[in-house]
Amino acid sequence: MKTPFSLNKIARASLIASLGILAACSNDGTTTPEANNALSKTEKIWPKLNIAVKQDPEIEAKIADYLKTMTLEQKVAQMIQPEIRDITVEDMRKYGFGSYLNGGGAFPNGDKHATPMDWVKLAEDFYQASVDDSIDGSKIPTMWGTDAVHGHNNVIGATLFPHNIGLGAANNPALIEQIAAITAVEVMATGIDWVFAPTVAVVRDDRWGRTYEGYSEDPRIVRDYSAAIVNGLQGKADGDFLSDKRVISTVKHFLGDGGTVDGDDQGNNIDSEQDLFDIHAQGYVGGLSAGSQSVMASFNSWHGVKNHGNKYLLTDVLKTRMGFDGFVVGDWNGHGQIEGCTNESCAQAVNAGLDIFMVPTGAWKPLYENTIAQVKAGEISMSRIDDAVSRILRVKLRAGLFDKPSPAKRQFSGKTELIGAQQHREVARQAVRESLVLLKNKNNILPLDANQTVLIAGDGADNIGKQSGGWSITWQGTNNKNADFPGATSIYAGLEKQITEAGGRAILSVDGSYEQRPDVAVVVFGEEPYAEGHGDRDNLEFERGNKKSLALLKSLKEQGIAVVSVFISGRPMWVNSELNASDAFVAAWLPGTEGGGIADVILKAKDGSIQHDFSGKLSFSWPKTAVQATVNKGDDDYSPLLPYGFGLTYGDKNVLADNLDEDSKLDNSALTSMDI
Ligand code: BGC
Ligand code: BGC
Repeated sequence: MKTPFSLNKIARASLIASLGILAACSNDGTTTPEANNALSKTEKIWPKLNIAVKQDPEIEAKIADYLKTMTLEQKVAQMIQPEIRDITVEDMRKYGFGSYLNGGGAFPNGDKHATPMDWVKLAEDFYQASVDDSIDGSKIPTMWGTDAVHGHNNVIGATLFPHNIGLGAANNPALIEQIAAITAVEVMATGIDWVFAPTVAVVRDDRWGRTYEGYSEDPRIVRDYSAAIVNGLQGKADGDFLSDKRVISTVKHFLGDGGTVDGDDQGNNIDSEQDLFDIHAQGYVGGLSAGSQSVMASFNSWHGVKNHGNKYLLTDVLKTRMGFDGFVVGDWNGHGQIEGCTNESCAQAVNAGLDIFMVPTGAWKPLYENTIAQVKAGEISMSRIDDAVSRILRVKLRAGLFDKPSPAKRQFSGKTELIGAQQHREVARQAVRESLVLLKNKNNILPLDANQTVLIAGDGADNIGKQSGGWSITWQGTNNKNADFPGATSIYAGLEKQITEAGGRAILSVDGSYEQRPDVAVVVFGEEPYAEGHGDRDNLEFERGNKKSLALLKSLKEQGIAVVSVFISGRPMWVNSELNASDAFVAAWLPGTEGGGIADVILKAKDGSIQHDFSGKLSFSWPKTAVQATVNKGDDDYSPLLPYGFGLTYGDKNVLADNLDEDSKLDNSALTSMDI
């Protein structure tokens, strides 16, 4: 039986101390039994956070002034966030939306190859329309939110960092802060103000299609990273907070998205309230304490109630108890999933504490009209609207949006050279190196001499789309060619460069055929890209029903060629057969555009020395069977194939032999195309 991970008392006390959480404490910082007894259940579980960004009386006074002059229509418009595919600049002029977004794979003019200048122009046009008061009477600047979840991933030529799962294996908060700061710069080069990241899901079931968006199954890594990313995106509260070099961050998705039953995307989390805090809320403790200005509500339910309509979580816990004073933005028509709501009408969400409706599709117009009518009818109180608008204006004022020049005139705007800058790519390449986890290294076959003949095979070898995964140019990360990633380096290209320079020979051959017999083969294979629910799986078996990568590994082995496997995946998977057929096996996760980082680690330098040793460690337990999807550090009967924290270095003795159990223990008659 699996028992949920819970922090013990000592861990909890040290957590509280290390974060400066303001619980109900006596003067010496310890909670007396009397004080503890006087706390409500909510107060016992949820701490009052010591949020680094304090309220500024000047800003609060300005908010009060705005509220006095704004009409109901202007206020509700602040709460509506439409998508660039569904509004025109004239709509912005007429309604004055508080914000807008581009979803994954949405580009200016619907052009995938839109240039940074095209992005800036759209930002400028929407901004100018928002401050034009000729129709709506409002001069409040709008703001643009985007999913820069592993670099500025909707933009051609941007630096794409490893997805979060790889960053978790790197376990280097300082590096993660640097990555976030670079992402902010590339985002600002396109005139955008706000990023829907970090995702702080603590993933407990690896069948979930968003597993790779999580850093770890361990809340500790997520908590530390969340603070680091927020600092990198927004700047530190005591530093250049939301200066003209920074963007607004969003900690998402609140709450419990990584803990749904069966890893079902947008599903139901049935954890206890204590586990909700101990496991799933730690990213909020880190990110909100560091001052993240927005929180995105999650599609999932908690005990059957959709979070978008859960007043207890959004208002009582997040705002009242934890003390979050920024705004809560919804997720992609998430409000429409609340019982009794549609995409076009949902007083429940506002009443629960949602401040901004993310409302793509044409639903924005009826939603705007219905919300106004609901306030007039008394279904939503004016004080709730004022609270929502205060939060939105507070963030805009803190971010200096009223004073900053228009998007086109900002310091990084249109600076094409910042998108995918060499310096940025070098940091991404370092992140790739640090994210690689060495699972097997028989006879110390790695590192490889570079001056030999190396066959580079597998459908991931020269495939930048595949190595980048979902949320890469397109939403699903599919339908991309290498040419859609100018400046990027495939894993093959990275290897080829160093092998050639060392006097060796690199042979690219996806199917593993060759004319000149190689000394060794590097086979790059793994999952095809996916995003969100499209990546949900029934079990963790890799290539179930269609073991084409295994066939390639085996055929090379049968020819007596040593095989180094580089596995691309958004989660740990059951690959016992592939492990048995490999001499060395590297979990490379979804490295992004800087494939050269793989060569840096698996190849020796020209002079035969090690360039970079492996340092990545599993931030997710690696499964022993195809159905071991919820194996997590801290379980009572913890028995994964490889434990959390595992990762060989070049000095280590190999631990996996070639005799792992290859029976998937799954009933083959139930094979569906989804499994393959
Ligand atoms: C995702 C969010 C994302 C939003 C906007 C949703 O489907 O769940 O993570 O920020 O779309 O693209
Ligand atoms: C959007 C994504 C979004 C998804 C939600 C897509 O069309 O581009 O950003 O998350 O829809 O279903």
